[in-house]
Amino acid sequence: MAKITASVYTSHVPAIGAALDLGKSGEPYWQPVFKGYEFSKHWMAENKPDVIFLVYNDHATAFSLDMIPTFAIGCADSFTPADEGWGPRPVPVVQGHPELAAHIAQSVIQQDFDLTIVNKMDVDHGLTVPLSLMCGQPQAWPCPVIPFAVNVVQYPVPSGRRCFELGKAIRKAIESFDKPLNVQIWGTGGMSHQLQGPRAGLINKEFDNAFLDQLIDDPEGLASKPHIDYVREAGSEGIELVMWLIARGAMADVAGGPVPTVAHRFYHVPASNTAVGHLILENK
Ligand code: DHB
Ligand code: FE
Repeated sequence: MAKITASVYTSHVPAIGAALDLGKSGEPYWQPVFKGYEFSKHWMAENKPDVIFLVYNDHATAFSLDMIPTFAIGCADSFTPADEGWGPRPVPVVQGHPELAAHIAQSVIQQDFDLTIVNKMDVDHGLTVPLSLMCGQPQAWPCPVIPFAVNVVQYPVPSGRRCFELGKAIRKAIESFDKPLNVQIWGTGGMSHQLQGPRAGLINKEFDNAFLDQLIDDPEGLASKPHIDYVREAGSEGIELVMWLIARGAMADVAGGPVPTVAHRFYHVPASNTAVGHLILENK
């Protein structure tokens, strides 16, 4: 049986990827950001999973107004880093896990969640920046990754409740896979930020830290937060945070198991226009 051993939560910001790729991570502006991930890189090396199920959002890169899947699972053998306008990031190609991805698609769709099956897709900063933060700059990523794209860009977006329930279904799917795989689930994006309009630059430390507290201790209650609260309190792009509820819904305690251990917690403002939040939760 496959099992979920841990969940990882982290912001993504394109400028973080650029800072790493251009050798600027030691500069005074970036140093405090990357310092928050020093623990995480050691932790990753010591807790190397067999597969990462990586919940992220595409930023009109693979998808566009032409086609907007709410939830899309990457079932391909591999996923190439996308060209987002400055050329593709110089990071390794992401190897998929088609067998586990197909099993999760079968199980989750039969649990009544509509997933779009994606057999060809480039992956943008939403996926590659979290990998860089957690793994540094390796020649190859440490394990296969199943990209799971959530629409938080074009309205209507899914509710926190639906994301949380989907996380429960993903846990059931993974635990019914007939191979002894160690799987991590990552929820990415957020925290507070707004890139557009009169409130551009909005950051809300109180909201973000309350979100982290409640994600740890009361995810069920957090799942009831209406989408308008994210937008009002955390900015138009703060809605990316609903993706964290997918990862949290897949943890053991939600299904009656032991409460997870907080291995690491980090918060820093700002990186570009974004409040960076990061959490590692371990299933006992
Ligand atoms: C920034 C943050 C994002 O989440 C994103 O997708 C693009 C840019 C930023 O803070 O610059
Ligand atoms: Fe984003």
